[in-house]
Amino acid sequence: MRIPILLAAQIQSTLASTSSSSTSTKESLSISGPSKLQSCTPTTFNWTSTSAPYTISIIEKSTQQTDQDQDQEELEMVTLDENKVTWIVDVVPGNQVSMLVKDSKGNTAETLSWTVEHGGIDCLDLD
Ligand SMILES: *[C@@H]1O[C@H](CO)[C@@H](O)[C@H](O)[C@H]1NC(C)=O
Repeated sequence: MRIPILLAAQIQSTLASTSSSSTSTKESLSISGPSKLQSCTPTTFNWTSTSAPYTISIIEKSTQQTDQDQDQEELEMVTLDENKVTWIVDVVPGNQVSMLVKDSKGNTAETLSWTVEHGGIDCLDLD
């Protein structure tokens, strides 16, 4: 009988755990951030420890154009073993961003969007 890889991994993590609790083995990934984001300000985000490594993406939603489909781009991706990251918010004030985390099992969690407030501008590549 072939055991699905995901299930096998869960069994392994259950065995590795000292807890004998038989509640749900599904780990849920969630991410926390601050209540506001300010441009060019280092900001720390953290997420639940599920399965490293984690891939972090910053999703920027431009609010410049109103009629077209909202322009959404994945800005940066970084892979980490830790469950936190500090990011200097290099986003133009007024734009909306959210942060997405994906663990090595493919679980994802995304924050709500923030509208970036005015902080510094020295990190921005403005003309
Ligand atoms: C992020 O860290 C804070 C402070 O240590 C903690 O209270 C919170 O639960 C963490 N968030 C997540 C999603 O793990």
